[in-house]
Amino acid sequence: MSKEEKYQALLPQIESLVSGETDFIANMANISAALHEAFGFWWTGFYRVEGKELVLGPFQGPVACTRIPFGRGVCGTAWERGETIIVPNVHEFAGHIACSSASKSEIVVPIFRNGQVIAVLDIDSAAYNTFDTIDQCYLEKLFRQEGK
Ligand code: SME
Repeated sequence: MSKEEKYQALLPQIESLVSGETDFIANMANISAALHEAFGFWWTGFYRVEGKELVLGPFQGPVACTRIPFGRGVCGTAWERGETIIVPNVHEFAGHIACSSASKSEIVVPIFRNGQVIAVLDIDSAAYNTFDTIDQCYLEKLFRQEGK
């Protein structure tokens, strides 16, 4: 199954999983589990905006750093820019925060509510060059549709 086909099969499942639930934490928990299981990523999870920091939210994978300042790391930069960042090689991203030395590539997708970033989805891979515009397209679509 191609990556596109996997996303096409998974997105409606995720949408039905979260559509009956208004609690953002519960939905982040199930979304991270569904993505992590389907793709076998190294780390899949959320950071929530709390004041001037991102604070660790629901995730699947090894333990991770709990707080990331605005503009720091891939996550804080995606928050600052308000746009998705794809990092093919984390060693080449200045300021990358290494929660795990096994992480080689990464995608961070900001999640908006009322025009403000309220959280980011962060996915890490143990291989280089895992993420591209296909991942970006489907992951952004997931949060646009849900508005979560
Ligand atoms: N690498 C991220 C930090 C979070 S962990 O990867 C889970 C960053 O640079 O923001």
